Amino acid sequence: MDRILLNYTHSLDSAAGPQHGVSLQELEGMAERLAMAQVRVEGRRAVDLRWLDLPYASEVHQEVLRYAESVQGRFQNVVVLGIGGSALGNRALHTALNSPFHELAPPPGHPRLFVLDNVDPDLIGEFLDHVDPATCLFNVISKSGSTAETMSQFLIFRRLLIDKLGEEAHREHICVTTDAKAGVLRPIVEAEGYASFVVPDGVGGRFSVLSPVGLVSSALVGIDILGLLAGAADMDARCQTSELLANPAMVYAGLQWLMQERKGKNIAVTFAYSHRLRDLADWYAQLLGESIGKLSGKGDEQRPVGPTPVRAVGVTDQHSQVQLYVQGPYDKWFTLLSVGDHDHRVPIPPDYQDRDALAYLGDREMGELFQAERDGTRLALTDAQRPNCTVHFPRVTAHTVGQYLYLMEYAVALMGELYGIDAFDQPGVEAGKVAAYALMGRKGFEERAQEIAAAQAGLQHEV
Ligand code: PA5
Repeated sequence: MDRILLNYTHSLDSAAGPQHGVSLQELEGMAERLAMAQVRVEGRRAVDLRWLDLPYASEVHQEVLRYAESVQGRFQNVVVLGIGGSALGNRALHTALNSPFHELAPPPGHPRLFVLDNVDPDLIGEFLDHVDPATCLFNVISKSGSTAETMSQFLIFRRLLIDKLGEEAHREHICVTTDAKAGVLRPIVEAEGYASFVVPDGVGGRFSVLSPVGLVSSALVGIDILGLLAGAADMDARCQTSELLANPAMVYAGLQWLMQERKGKNIAVTFAYSHRLRDLADWYAQLLGESIGKLSGKGDEQRPVGPTPVRAVGVTDQHSQVQLYVQGPYDKWFTLLSVGDHDHRVPIPPDYQDRDALAYLGDREMGELFQAERDGTRLALTDAQRPNCTVHFPRVTAHTVGQYLYLMEYAVALMGELYGIDAFDQPGVEAGKVAAYALMGRKGFEERAQEIAAAQAGLQHEV
């Protein structure tokens, strides 16, 4: 089986220089803290960090596969109604493991996938102008079962389905993934008899991609979910050693902490040198940002922590961001995602051999150019003393993507311990949700609505 590898050579002082790179001794000096972090994370595996065991929930996996099989060929479109951790993984898996042109021509028997993770009326309105809801299976995903964005979408599409198909028939077009008890969705599922899956306890939104949250839509669009889960389980096994330099999650977490806390790299750039992996970078941006961007410590000691995640795509962003990355502020640590073998070989024809500016391209392959550009960027970053590491995928498969997802989840859990924060809550997101409820007039949020109105009075400055 292909294994993804974390190469951190260019994060070390030997490559990136003593001012910006970390020494091996500094990294090894983290061994005890990381081992303790690992013990604490593992101690919560069977308690409240149940996402660690998602790769082994084989009954659930079979249930998802049975459902996907039971509806195969019945819907032209699968539409995910969810947001944040209830959408980013779905999109990342689809774009990594299916064709970028899947929606133009889905393989026979497989539907298209749309992830509507916004309530922008121009998105929803255009979707309705182009897609008949009667051709869709709506996978409504909400761990809390109450998020305003997802609930509003559910209300809109449910009503359209009922108006078009009738009370009885509309039910076949809705499949809900939500908590076993909490929220308004579960009692609705029970009352309506919708197909449904459970987001298990101990599985927070951004750690839920390997639960039915990410698996249902993936199975529906033909992704090898068992391969994905097997990859995650393999990575789990690799993360069990307490030997720092043999444990990729420990090394990644240790480097991230050192880069920010010792080297002042406040920005963590995931630079996906793969069109297919670009949305994994987006998924990781949420995982890192929402998990680690917190207040650490108590009372007067309290301070804000957390690197700012940024995503970039190679080679596209070479012509957009790389100037900044190579000569701008020394405030970034880079993680390149690289791919060994691509699924396609695209030769470049040897035309215009008499012109030097084109001759070197002839009879080469697009993959060679792509890899040369990636390696060129890595060299340019390193030469400019911009520390970077590479997560290398021998090939992009369900198995290697499963490894990556689990690696990053485990590393972020360890980072939470290093930064001294709870990586699994999101009080900042909750604050925004409460403000939106208040502004929309939700019952029980009147006091907050008054506070907002008072704070806004007379505060408009426009030009
Ligand atoms: O990671 C998280 O917890 C959040 O991003 C949630 O996934 C997001 O807010 C959506 O919440 P829910 O799934 O409860 O609708």
